[in-house]
Amino acid sequence: MRHLPNLKDLTATEIRDILGRAAVIKDRPEDFRSLLAAQSLAMLFQKTSTRTRVSFEVAMTELGGHAIYVDWTTSNFVLSGIDYETEYLSRNVSCIMARLMHHEDLQTITDSSLVPVINGCDEKFHPCQALTDLLTVTEHHQGDLDDAHIVYVGVQNNVSNSLVIICDKLGVPLTLATPDSDDNGESLDADVQEIVRSSGIINHNPDPSAAVKDASFVYTDTWVDMQYFNNPDFADEKEARVQQMLPYQINEKLLDGIDCKVMHDMPIHDGYEISTSMVRDPRSIIFDQAENRLHAQKGLLWWLYEQAGTI
Ligand code: CP
Repeated sequence: MRHLPNLKDLTATEIRDILGRAAVIKDRPEDFRSLLAAQSLAMLFQKTSTRTRVSFEVAMTELGGHAIYVDWTTSNFVLSGIDYETEYLSRNVSCIMARLMHHEDLQTITDSSLVPVINGCDEKFHPCQALTDLLTVTEHHQGDLDDAHIVYVGVQNNVSNSLVIICDKLGVPLTLATPDSDDNGESLDADVQEIVRSSGIINHNPDPSAAVKDASFVYTDTWVDMQYFNNPDFADEKEARVQQMLPYQINEKLLDGIDCKVMHDMPIHDGYEISTSMVRDPRSIIFDQAENRLHAQKGLLWWLYEQAGTI
């Protein structure tokens, strides 16, 4: 059975198929009102979310199905084995989406589930975000994607890992403008590091000013993962990270004269990874990108349900 843990096992053709379906549903949503009639999606959350929760729930509703929010802390996932709780869930619903702290727990869920499992973001990967990002780049880029140049400015993390995987598969040039000393330990992934080392189109450049000079898209994300941002125990580490990362802030000075689109997967921490004015700069496509979570989710659900033979 096909799952979506991290995009690694998808071919370029399959990714293009998902993105194509997303574009079709975005263009003609009324034609797909019954696509997932009588289907239920369990959305399991161990961490906070706005976009992932809303876009999957609205996607299921608009496709004729139903989504169930399962809060990890008030469910019996906190008391029992992840495998037992997952098998129970999968005997009730036809798909599971999970946002978890640890990728290894996502692995346990995929191993225990009788239905397809979607990774809704963990410490290593954010595959649904990467699909959305490439849908957005496709819409905003004139010409072939191999002419586009995405520059990710910030810290190496789950979002940059998934961008590396999808850009490598689709042949989209990507530069990671992240510090040399960036060792965001829990998100490091050996396969992603190998792609950055060996790919001809994925590069690392620790100098953000040099990296953005010929960018068509400049992309940033939070410098501190969501579960740590307001955590008092992480305050000293957060302050050190902010001081290290200030030269990597997306602001008017960094993008002065650069003809690019500005992307951010949200939630935004303005004054940190991006200045307030850049969020609303004419070059910003941040809200188009965020809206595309809904359309990308629909394309993914369509593809995954068809792979499972459910529809
Ligand atoms: N980009 C994203 O995953 O947003 P949420 O954390 O709000 O779901």
